[in-house]
Amino acid sequence: MRTPIAVFASGTGSNFQALVEHMENRETSYRIVLLVCDRPDAPVLQKAEQFGIKALALRPKDYPTKEAYEEEILGQLKTLGVKWIILAGYMRLIGRTLLQSYPQRIVNLHPSLLPAFPGKDAIAQAFRYGVKVTGVTVHLVDEGLDSGPILAQKAVSIQEGESLGRITEKIHHTEHLLYPMVVDRLVREGIIVEGRKVTWLGSASQADMGNMPEFQ
Ligand code: GRF
Repeated sequence: MRTPIAVFASGTGSNFQALVEHMENRETSYRIVLLVCDRPDAPVLQKAEQFGIKALALRPKDYPTKEAYEEEILGQLKTLGVKWIILAGYMRLIGRTLLQSYPQRIVNLHPSLLPAFPGKDAIAQAFRYGVKVTGVTVHLVDEGLDSGPILAQKAVSIQEGESLGRITEKIHHTEHLLYPMVVDRLVREGIIVEGRKVTWLGSASQADMGNMPEFQ
């Protein structure tokens, strides 16, 4: 039986699509049963419709508090038996209500090698800084901004003369390969978390996941 998961997104949804396609093409451990979106005009909602995935589109400002907004989401997650929350471009900090209901079960994808360049526009931040290597991080979500324990990372090198557009393309391509693989293994095999250190159970390891060829 596949484990029910929910994806939270606010924008384009290319990573949502990668997670759905991985699920449709393989015997994945997870099944996406809900898309949660905080922007009713976001393109990701059309993708959910196209793939026949139930979507919950909410306007946070319609709720008196963040708790009330998250309680509404939580009700749906419980009804559907959701075991993991997978953030894919969800532009909002997760609050106490969801963190306490899903301890170490909320995962985020960030387009840099954390702890470098947290927050918005991470790809451009890295580009402007002039780093020669950037990358992608998958991590657990805590109360902070892009600060939870790291599950997996994949480097992306920046060649001389490469444009921001080209680097963005390389980062997104890497995300689309890494994120579904990490989520699949996480749900299938599990982890132990001690402080900031994550140990993969089963046959998975960060080394395996970092070993995929770098996208050129
Ligand atoms: C990705 O770059 C992800 O790392 C960041 O938000 C972006 C979402 O892109 N958290 P998309 O909506 O999945 O295309």
